[in-house]
Amino acid sequence: MSLPSPWDVPPAGPLRGELAVNGDKSVSHRALLVGAVCDGPVRVRGFGASADTLATLGAVRALGVPVDELRDGELVVHGRGLRGLAAPDDVIDVQNAGTLLRLLPGLLAGQPRGRYTLDGDASIRRRPVERVAAPLREMGAEVESTDGRPPLHVRAGAALRGIEYRLPVASAQVKSCVLLAGLYGDGPTTVVEPTPTRDHTERLLVAAGAKIDRRAGRATIHPPTSLSLGSLEVPGDFSSAAPFVVAATLLPESLLLIRNVGVNPGRTGLLTVLERMGGRVGLVNRRVTAGGEPVADLEVRHAELVATEVEPELVPAMVDELPLLALAASAARGRTTVRGAEELAVKESNRLETTRDALFACGAHLDATDDGWRIRGVPARLRGGTVHPHGDHRIAMLGAVAGLWSENGVRVLDPASIEVSFPGFRDLVAALLEGPA
Ligand code: S3P
Repeated sequence: MSLPSPWDVPPAGPLRGELAVNGDKSVSHRALLVGAVCDGPVRVRGFGASADTLATLGAVRALGVPVDELRDGELVVHGRGLRGLAAPDDVIDVQNAGTLLRLLPGLLAGQPRGRYTLDGDASIRRRPVERVAAPLREMGAEVESTDGRPPLHVRAGAALRGIEYRLPVASAQVKSCVLLAGLYGDGPTTVVEPTPTRDHTERLLVAAGAKIDRRAGRATIHPPTSLSLGSLEVPGDFSSAAPFVVAATLLPESLLLIRNVGVNPGRTGLLTVLERMGGRVGLVNRRVTAGGEPVADLEVRHAELVATEVEPELVPAMVDELPLLALAASAARGRTTVRGAEELAVKESNRLETTRDALFACGAHLDATDDGWRIRGVPARLRGGTVHPHGDHRIAMLGAVAGLWSENGVRVLDPASIEVSFPGFRDLVAALLEGPA
């Protein structure tokens, strides 16, 4: 067996020019899953193809939903109606996709018949699933995990009750699972969140005709008789734009325009925190997509950063960007603390540890705590070094940005995991290193 080739990322000068990132991963998963239970065809523009979303494409096809793949990221999902999903003989392979693992059981629990098993790769087998199994059971569904982890079994056919569910942890995936199961309740289902999380599911279900009452921290879904969407557009992925936002902020004389990025407030906490630190990111050309998502172009300028405190309430809106924030804080003058981020321990890797190890290996000064990091920032390039991503796409991309902001470059061991969310990332980095055309 040949060893995977490492990626040597050299130090970069100013990042200047324009770019566009791939379609949003969270919205792409939901477009397929909600599309699958709509009546009739749903045209999806800007689908973000990646290993994770292709796992969802495979899953909906396995459930008997035809999907046409057209050119330029366009798909047509031939929805089978709310209760039209078939039960495959085989296990549904979610691969590395936590969002698929947590959202799909909500739809499966509402089907009239069938037994479904969801399983995935070694990393997915370490991810907690009782957080979705428990509320589904409370609604009357038959769900079994394997000591709290996948494989996860759902036996459909039970009549579901509408419930009020208080999320024990702020999680958009768990909220979405309960709301999707709420489509099948005998009455309304309410989800109460400790801190607001991304609301892509709510926006998409409303666009598909569901009635959802929303107040701060609460969403109540009233079971519809049917859903239909027509067409929807997936915005560029804020989480894919984030490595470039941080790189251009750090590298002197940078000026980068990132076009067509989703700026759902449940996703843009990184911008809030960078602004406090002195970052200069402007949002221009704001609009709202068919599908109800806010979008803008991001204008990112280099800035000298100062340290800050990231308090627990800010964590959900930047949960996937926290490793990059730790890098930005390593370059900011003063000491930064991040608290309330214990959920990072159960992501694709234990990101409290893998982020610390990656940045420490490059010469940054930081400690991991139980729920975040303490970072001593030094406003100078990192020394550089070798980053082991541990199969985690976000840590591989973190290593690459650290390389751009280093004296000697960073070797990213096994960068293949980047395919999980952002297959075009390396080409975009290479194009920026070459400079504007
Ligand atoms: C996601 C929610 C977040 C996030 C994940 C995608 C989603 O997970 O980390 O990458 O699409 O709903 P949690 O709900 O576990 O916080």
